[in-house]
Amino acid sequence: MAKNSLEAFIEGIRSTWGPLTTEVVERSRAQLVDLVKAPVTEEWLASLHEAAPAYAELYRDPTHGFVLLAHTESAGLYRPPHDHGRGWVIYVLQQGEIEMGSYARVTNADGQVRLVKRDTTIVRPGQAMVYLPGDIHDTRCVSGPALLLRFTARDLKKEDQENHKVTRYVERDGIWTVGKTCSLTGRALGLSVKHE
Ligand SMILES: [Fe+2]
Repeated sequence: MAKNSLEAFIEGIRSTWGPLTTEVVERSRAQLVDLVKAPVTEEWLASLHEAAPAYAELYRDPTHGFVLLAHTESAGLYRPPHDHGRGWVIYVLQQGEIEMGSYARVTNADGQVRLVKRDTTIVRPGQAMVYLPGDIHDTRCVSGPALLLRFTARDLKKEDQENHKVTRYVERDGIWTVGKTCSLTGRALGLSVKHE
């Protein structure tokens, strides 16, 4: 029996987990939206507000591999466009406001890759954004401190640093494009963005 909202969330996700489907995404989104309705007196949430960590791992599932992270962001923090490799991700906001842009990757006739921005959404508390494999987005905290929960279907650090499946984009002459890549690994070079 769950003792608090975080434990109820974990139990709920575990009980309905499976391969990526519309239903799994929708159930996960609904449970994340419920999670940020938790009273701020619950210890896990109170401590996040108090410590305001830039990065905190709240849960990692030993069986299914999903991970729940928390990020506290200050107004103005920008995370450039990226995808999540083979992973899918749901962001839900507990506090503050974050602008999230969505992009498509297109290749010109001359082979140049560029991103085209599809739209921008101001994400507010209680609102969730879903990014499926291949989706590209950026984030900008517009009202802080923001508390963002990030649910990832797999460990994105591994996906990035060990499997090199995460693509990050750089701005060059006003165009978001791919960075230079290492000829041996195919991995982008010269990028220092840590968040995915
Ligand atoms: Fe992301």
